[in-house]
Amino acid sequence: MTDLQQLLLSRIRDVADYPKPGVMFKDITPLLADPEAFTALTDRLADFCVQTGATKVVGLEARGFILAAPAAVRAGIGFIPVRKAGKLPGATLRQAYDLEYGSAEIEVHAEDLAAGDRVMVIDDVLATGGTAEASLQLIRRAGAEIAGVIMLMELGFLGGRARLEGALDGAPLESLLIV
Ligand code: PRP
Ligand code: MG
Repeated sequence: MTDLQQLLLSRIRDVADYPKPGVMFKDITPLLADPEAFTALTDRLADFCVQTGATKVVGLEARGFILAAPAAVRAGIGFIPVRKAGKLPGATLRQAYDLEYGSAEIEVHAEDLAAGDRVMVIDDVLATGGTAEASLQLIRRAGAEIAGVIMLMELGFLGGRARLEGALDGAPLESLLIV
């Protein structure tokens, strides 16, 4: 394990039986409260944006916003929010995805993404991959390219990586911690 991985892991708190019995919640608030760890994470996310030639960063509401916005600023590129449906005032593209029970929808302002953009998707956790897959579909529907996806954590046992393979279409998926 690298020094960065050790630092990040040491600042993520396991909360048993949250939000429901049997689930081990990964709480990133101790990491966010530690400027050394949050800065190291931001630098790593921004480096990946630069390495992959990303021209825009998409953050996934809500926790993804916290990580993606400073990374975009550090990389010197724009930040685009992908929001849960009904929160954006302008013309949007909307994408449905499956949840464990039922489904949900996310949206992006149509004018924020266009042909010629290379987009990096940033979120805190890759679980089943449903949220990230829907975001990649939105980006492609807008005519933009995928520069990659970078996650703070990947819950390997849920198979999100395999689910994203088609939507990534060869673009890199990087997870800083696989738990
Ligand atoms: C969580 C997490 C990821 C998503 C991963 O978001 O932050 O965005 O689930 O799950 P998946 O890979 O199975 O789609 P959630 O919408 O629960 O909460 P948030 O608004 O606090 O980010
Ligand atoms: Mg989320």
